[in-house]
Amino acid sequence: MDGMPEGTVNNILKQETLKWVFVGGKGGVGKTTCSSILSILLSQVRQSVLIISTDPAHNLSDAFQQRFTKIPTLVYGFNNLYAMEVDPKVENDEPLEAEGMESFISDLTNAIPGIDEAMSFAEMLKLVQTMDYSVIVFDTAPTGHTLRLLQFPSTLEKGLSKMMALKNRFGGLLTQATRLFGLGDEFNEDALLGKLEGMKDVIEQVNQQFKDPDLTTFVCVCIPEFLSLYETERLVQELTKFEIDAHNIIINQVLYEDEAIESKLIKARMKMQQKYLDQFYTLYDDFHITSLPLLPEEVCGVDALKQFSAKFLKPHKAIFSQGSVDEAEKRVALIRVQLECAISELDKLKKGKQKAR
Ligand SMILES: Nc1ncnc2c1ncn2[C@@H]1O[C@H](COP(=O)(O)OP(=O)(O)OP(=O)(O)O)[C@@H](O)[C@H]1O
Ligand SMILES: [Mg+2]
Repeated sequence: MDGMPEGTVNNILKQETLKWVFVGGKGGVGKTTCSSILSILLSQVRQSVLIISTDPAHNLSDAFQQRFTKIPTLVYGFNNLYAMEVDPKVENDEPLEAEGMESFISDLTNAIPGIDEAMSFAEMLKLVQTMDYSVIVFDTAPTGHTLRLLQFPSTLEKGLSKMMALKNRFGGLLTQATRLFGLGDEFNEDALLGKLEGMKDVIEQVNQQFKDPDLTTFVCVCIPEFLSLYETERLVQELTKFEIDAHNIIINQVLYEDEAIESKLIKARMKMQQKYLDQFYTLYDDFHITSLPLLPEEVCGVDALKQFSAKFLKPHKAIFSQGSVDEAEKRVALIRVQLECAISELDKLKKGKQKAR
């Protein structure tokens, strides 16, 4: 359609500066499938790609049919695509043995909920940044969680100022305590503060990167249903609030009239979907909207992912473009089907009313 951004993910593949690609949306809509396919497509145009799942219910392993851990592992059949699964709630690798430190940390954790999670996310980002991948794709956990992690710089900021306040208030008390327990200098609060300060630098750096549309984008995955439309709108608003760029929406599980459809159920579902598809296209006319068909089977394993990836590169014409006569005819046919559905539904309603009288 004229003036409308292309309905593919080509813009992401073409954006050579892109470093972070977040893929998010409601549970079960196809985030893991879409992020896996995006990482495969990116591996064809970029030097090296890492896909990270931050969902505690890891499913990259299911999609690729290969076991992954928190260490980046080469995906079978690729020489530049790596995958890792991290738990945002992992315990710290270097536990702070000092009791004084522990209580200090737990005070802090109680004072600022989410700081432990934010810190392990920061650790992970720090690690990933040193690894020098050209682009990093995140398969994120369902909506709320992701946004919380993207907020982590401000969470940590709060944590730091709280610590500073504590430090100022108690002066050298903590240092004395650590000495009392016979702990070395590396356990004093200055060392800890230093560590947090270092973390803050990483976080500020990463935060700046997340807010830079040249480096970062967020891909919203959804399905053509009311709840998903609603969640997408909320997600887009939140992203705007956090100043995180988003200009791609993937609408998954769309029913197409590839064959003559007899089933009343499917016809009714198609009609329902069409209503929400129209709303998506109207609401997000400045987004690249990629619509993907609902397949008869799951998308499991590299071969299936690769096969499905073709749909990410070519817009589905049947419903939305107004190009050729052929396409126009298809669209008319679809509308006719929808009309038929509407009429039969209306008839049913009328009959129902008559019966009721
Ligand atoms: N277009 C499609 N047609 C058929 N099956 C699909 C399609 N997209 C995804 N699937 C299948 O649906 C299931 C859920 O997809 P996926 O795991 O990608 O969703 P998710 O959003 O990551 O879910 P979760 O929120 O649980 O992490 C998978 O088994 C996947 O293979
Ligand atoms: Mg998933």
